[in-house]
Amino acid sequence: MITGRTTVAAVIGHPVVHSLSPALHNAAFASLGIDWVYAAFDVAEGDADRALDAMQVLGLGGLSVTMPHKAQVASAVHRLDPAAAALRSVNTVVVEHDGTLSGYSTDGAGLIASLEECGHDVNGARACVLGAGGAGRAIVDALARAGASRIDVVNRTAAAADEAVALAGDRGSVASASAVADADLVINATSVGMHSTELPCDPALLRAGQVVVDIVYQPRRTALLDAAQTAGAATVDGLGMLVHQAVLQQRLWHGQVPDPAVMRAAAEAELSRRQ
Ligand code: ATR
Repeated sequence: MITGRTTVAAVIGHPVVHSLSPALHNAAFASLGIDWVYAAFDVAEGDADRALDAMQVLGLGGLSVTMPHKAQVASAVHRLDPAAAALRSVNTVVVEHDGTLSGYSTDGAGLIASLEECGHDVNGARACVLGAGGAGRAIVDALARAGASRIDVVNRTAAAADEAVALAGDRGSVASASAVADADLVINATSVGMHSTELPCDPALLRAGQVVVDIVYQPRRTALLDAAQTAGAATVDGLGMLVHQAVLQQRLWHGQVPDPAVMRAAAEAELSRRQ
C-alpha cells in the first residue's frame, strides 16, 4: 500500500510508455519488503534539468534515465562515477545525504554481471562488440574495466566505431565483420534482430567455445542466439543485462540487493502480457 511514508523512484525518458523498468523495480521493492514504489515519467527532450530539480523538490529516492536524456543528465549532476564520466552518459541518479546528485552508468556493469551469473569470465577474454551506439559504448567501456584482453568493435558507421574503440585504450580496435570468428565473446549491441529475424553477423563465423550475447530481448530468443546455439556456442540473452543494470540501480539507491531471478520473472511476465 502506498502511504505518506512511501519513497518514490522513477524513470524519465521519451517515450517511456513501453519501459519494462516499472515492472522490474516494483517487483524488486516487493520482494525486498521495502516501502518504495516506481513510476515512469515522460519527459520531453531538453527538460532533463527540470526533471532533476523536480526530483530534489519532490524528494524522489532514485531516478533511472533513458533516451533521450542520458547525456543531459551527465552534464547536470554534481558528480559522476568513472563509467558515466567516460561515457558522458548517466542511466542512474542517486540523491546523496547532503541532497546533491550523483550520476552512474550501470548498463555495462549489468552486462558483465549477467555474464558472471552464467559462469562466463570476461577477464582475459577476446571480445568482439557488434555496434557502437550508446549500448555498444557502455559495453566496450565495461569490458575494458573488467579486463578483456582485446576488444574489437564492428560497426556500420566508422566514426562511431572510432569513438567506442577509444574507450578501450590500446586493447580496442575497429574491426571488420570477420573478427567475430576470432572472439571468445561476441556481443550484439546493435538493434539488428529486434522484432525481426535479421542477423547482425554471418552465422558461419560462430563456433563452439564462444559465448554469444544478444542485448536484444524482443524476441526473447533472437535469430542470433539460435544461430549461436546451432554452432555449438554458449548463449546469454538480453534480459540478463536489463535485469542486472536494474539490480545495480537498486543497490545504489537503498543499499539492498534484490534477487535477479525475481526481476527477470517480472520482466518475462510483463513481456508475455504484452504479446
Ligand atoms: P542504443 O542506445 O540501443 O545503443 P543507438 O545509439 O541508436 O542505440 O545505436 C544503435 C546501434 O545499432 C548502432 O551501432 C547502429 O549502427 P550505426 O552507428 O551505423 O548507426 C546499429 N544499427 C542499427 N541498425 C542497424 C542496421 N540495420 N545494420 C547495422 N547496424 C545497425
